[in-house]
Amino acid sequence: MLVRPNPLILLFCLFLPLALPAADEGAVLFKNVCAQCHGEKGEGKLEVRSPSIASEPSWYVTTQLLNFHDGKRGSNTQADPQGAMMAAIARSLKPEQIEAVAKHVESLPLVVPKEREIAGADVRLGQELFYERCMECHRYNASGEMAFGSPPLVGRQGWYLLDQLKKFKGLHRGAAKGDEKGAKMVQMATLFIADEQTMKNVVGYILTLNPAPPDEAGDDLFKAPAAGQ
Ligand code: HEC
Ligand code: HEC
Repeated sequence: MLVRPNPLILLFCLFLPLALPAADEGAVLFKNVCAQCHGEKGEGKLEVRSPSIASEPSWYVTTQLLNFHDGKRGSNTQADPQGAMMAAIARSLKPEQIEAVAKHVESLPLVVPKEREIAGADVRLGQELFYERCMECHRYNASGEMAFGSPPLVGRQGWYLLDQLKKFKGLHRGAAKGDEKGAKMVQMATLFIADEQTMKNVVGYILTLNPAPPDEAGDDLFKAPAAGQ
């Protein structure tokens, strides 16, 4: 039996691709709104202290946008002006926009931070702390674990990670009612991060877990520490 395609359907198929861009709401929203602060590639900007978010898993982006939206994160304008800025953005988003933009953020390739060292950090001590206290939730390579709600820490800039540890310790993040995941980090920062030096050490170590360009990969970690004998 000869099946003759309906010319109207053929015509419809021809125009279908033109209608598709509207469906990628996440990409459009990212370009128009998020890129202003987080950069075109989601690489972040030190000037506004916005982190690299490229490749963050969509479940984490969604949780954080909802936390900002619901006042669990960024509700203290004085102590956390960056969070407050982000909260204002999140409050302007509808649930379906949050979902769409989170998917787009996840699709962006990871941006390795330019600076992969923290001045004055003792990376060995940082590694010890990470193995003892952080790895269980953030995993050995700091790639995060959805089951615990713990995000990947690779890809984030050192100054951003330091900012967040200070916010957890100062109860400016994770202390709001109902923020159970954030509360875990408040507990960690309170119990195991005694001071700023400890923060620098552990962040210094986390930065070494970023994938390095091939010509740089290799022996940094194995360099002998400055001899103190
Ligand atoms: C006006 C500047 C600005 C705009 C626009 C903006 N952000 Fe942010 N964003 C920030 C800053 C600053 C932070 C860091 C907040 C902090 O220190 O807690 C942040 C943090 C975040 C975080 C938390 C990252 C993490 O690792 O916890 C996510 C996710 C995020 N932004 C996504 C977005 C998305 C998606 C958009 C677009 C809809 C967007 N941002 C638009 C400034 C901005
Ligand atoms: C019990 C599980 C658990 C342990 C152990 C843990 N974390 Fe976390 N961490 C989390 C969770 C969950 C979040 C996300 C909090 C949220 O939703 O706001 C988080 C978030 C973070 C963030 C913020 C990242 C971002 O993109 O904003 C940093 C930095 C961090 N952890 C560092 C550490 C360090 C350093 C240690 C070890 C001293 C540690 N964590 C130990 C569960 C844990």
